[in-house]
Amino acid sequence: MTCLKALILAGGFATRLRPLSCSRPKTLFPIVNKPLLEWIFQRLANDGVTEAIMATNALTQFYIKQQAPSKHGLKIKFSVDPAKTPLGTGGPIKKAEKLIGHDEPFIVLNGDIFADLSYRELISAHNKTGALATIALCKVEDPCRYGVAELSEDNHIKRFIEKPTIDKAPSNLINAGVYVLSPKVFDYIPAKKPVSIEREVFPRLAEEGKLFGHRINGLWIDIGKPGEFLQTNKIILDAEAKNLKLKRAKNFELKTPVAIEKDAMIGENSVIGPYAILGKNITVGKNSQISNSVIFPYVEIGEACQIEGALIGEGAKIGKHVKIGSGCIIGDLAKIKDNLTLSEGVTVCPAKEVTENILNPKGNC
Ligand code: GDD
Ligand code: MG
Repeated sequence: MTCLKALILAGGFATRLRPLSCSRPKTLFPIVNKPLLEWIFQRLANDGVTEAIMATNALTQFYIKQQAPSKHGLKIKFSVDPAKTPLGTGGPIKKAEKLIGHDEPFIVLNGDIFADLSYRELISAHNKTGALATIALCKVEDPCRYGVAELSEDNHIKRFIEKPTIDKAPSNLINAGVYVLSPKVFDYIPAKKPVSIEREVFPRLAEEGKLFGHRINGLWIDIGKPGEFLQTNKIILDAEAKNLKLKRAKNFELKTPVAIEKDAMIGENSVIGPYAILGKNITVGKNSQISNSVIFPYVEIGEACQIEGALIGEGAKIGKHVKIGSGCIIGDLAKIKDNLTLSEGVTVCPAKEVTENILNPKGNC
């Protein structure tokens, strides 16, 4: 094992996960009640990484320090973009040059992906070829939202195109957002300005024959959109279900798979699950039903509610007899009054008070 440092890119703005991303960065979104970043730290530490450098903006740094996810023994440092100039996906690598050093190859990863991959394997693939950069590649159906690679038989990347139109995508092998870079790559990134590694650095390395790919086959998800975030939670819940300690259901019913923090208070005759993930400090009144949903911490749900397929933000208060349909996203601290129905796909702004039924998904946030 030679590579011991990892740089985690986590300074983006996550616009597609609004309103839940208004008050937390994507890397802190909970995956089965554990921030995504904690899953990332755990995997890095298991694979022998000793130090993680968080490349963030000042606000994300604040949220990470405040939430203090478990570090799994990693030493954590921050490298913060200048307030007025987000540095993109390449600039932060150059900015952290001194912290990373020139001794050996290092890992760079996007802080918004859940990937079941071996960093060790990626590093040994990198060390075999003499590449300056080795990109983990995974196969997807629609490559256009990602960086796409044209791979030759000896695993070198002939072309790399970021977010091509469908007619220009050379394959469906995409950049999984995890790389091993050799310190020479610092010479390819101009200092003190925004740089896109995908648009400015990878294409140049490909032209010079110094960009390689390494296919990964395990679970890989970018939690970029609300549906993908819920789906990631469900997949990981399935995978983790046997390891979860469940609250003892007294007068209510738990339908597995389900994840509930120990301190939840659940009223009688309520049915929780399947696929309900309840964070810490949650109260649910009697006769309520919650399934297929992620409920963030400190949420209060009244009696006789029906919540199916929704994301409910931290500290939201849901009154009695409320029906929340699939695809709904309730912002942090929002209040939904008694006896209301929010039909499918409704988004409620953080801290908004909803006093009438919302039967039209548009225009509520
Ligand atoms: N520090 C810092 N500063 N980090 C940033 C900045 C910035 O200005 N902009 C983005 N990031 C971070 C994001 O927080 C994220 O973790 C990572 O860099 C990638 O940025 P995204 O904005 O999420 O990019 P994307 O999802 O559209 O595309 C990227 O990821 C795909 C895989 O999910 C690209 O790397 C694609 O090629 C790749 O396929
Ligand atoms: Mg992303």
